[in-house]
Amino acid sequence: MFLQVKNLTKHFGGLLALDNLNLTVSQGEIVGLIGPNGAGKTTFFNLLSGVYQPDEGEIIFLHQRIDRILAHRITALGVSRTFQNIRLFAQMTALENVMVGQHCRTRAEVKEALLRTSGFQKEENEIQGKAKELLDFVGLLSKGNELARNLPYGDQRRLEIARALATEPKLLLLDEPTAGMNPVEAKELMSLIKKIREQGVTVLLIEHQMEVVMNISERIIVLNYGEKIAEGKPEEIQQNSLVIDAYLGTE
Ligand SMILES: Nc1ncnc2c1ncn2[C@@H]1O[C@H](COP(=O)(O)OP(=O)(O)O)[C@@H](O)[C@H]1O
Ligand SMILES: [Mg+2]
Repeated sequence: MFLQVKNLTKHFGGLLALDNLNLTVSQGEIVGLIGPNGAGKTTFFNLLSGVYQPDEGEIIFLHQRIDRILAHRITALGVSRTFQNIRLFAQMTALENVMVGQHCRTRAEVKEALLRTSGFQKEENEIQGKAKELLDFVGLLSKGNELARNLPYGDQRRLEIARALATEPKLLLLDEPTAGMNPVEAKELMSLIKKIREQGVTVLLIEHQMEVVMNISERIIVLNYGEKIAEGKPEEIQQNSLVIDAYLGTE
C-alpha cells in the first residue's frame, strides 16, 4: 500500500481535531479531501507532513512508519506539501524559492558553498536549471526574477506548487490550492494538477471549490468534526445524505 493511515487521532487541548481516522491512498490516485471548516483537513496534512505528531494511530508511507519522524525526513522520503496560507520566502525571487525547495535532494555541504568550489558551482547551475524547468512547468518561467511577494495571488499559489515539486515528491499534498483564485485560474490549476499526476505523482487535494474537487478527484474522502463521514466516487459523494447534511448544517 502506498499510504495507509490507521486510527489517527489528534487533540488540541479538549478539542478532538482528528478522531480515529482510517484511510488508504493508492499510488497514482488523485484523492480529494473535503469537509466543512474546522473538520480537521489541515490537521491531517500537518500530521502527514510531520508538523505535528499524532496522539494515537499510525501513518505508513511506502511500508515505513512516518508518524514519529521529523518533517525534513518525511520530505526526503517523498511527501511534500503546500499551505492553506501561502508560505513563500517573500523577499526572495520566484526562481530562488524553487531553488531552496531542492535542497533536500542536493549534496553540497555548507563548507563547499562558502568556499564556492567548482563542484558547488556545477551543482548550483544544475539546481538553477531544474528550478527554471519547474517554473516553466507551472507557467511562471517569465516571472523567475520577480520577488515572490510581488506576484499576484494565483501565481504565488503556483509558485508554492513548483517549490513543493522541487523536493521530488511521490505524494503531493495540496491545501486549498485554488483559494483566492478566479474561475479561469482555478481551471488552469486543475490542468496543472492533472499534469503533475501524469508525471507519476500521487495527489491528495484539500479543496473547498466543489466544482474543482468533483471534476478532478477519482475518489473523495469527507471529514466532519475530525471524523471520516463518507468516501467514494464524486458522483456518490454528491448524493450522500450525510455529506449534504454536513454542508447544509454549516451554512
Ligand atoms: N495548532 C492548533 N491549536 C489549536 N487548535 C487547532 C490547531 N490547529 C487546528 N486546530 C483546531 O482543530 C480543528 C480542525 O482544524 P483544521 O484542521 O485547520 O480544519 P480544516 O482544515 O478542516 O478547516 C479546528 O477546530 C481548529 O481550530
Ligand atoms: Mg484547513
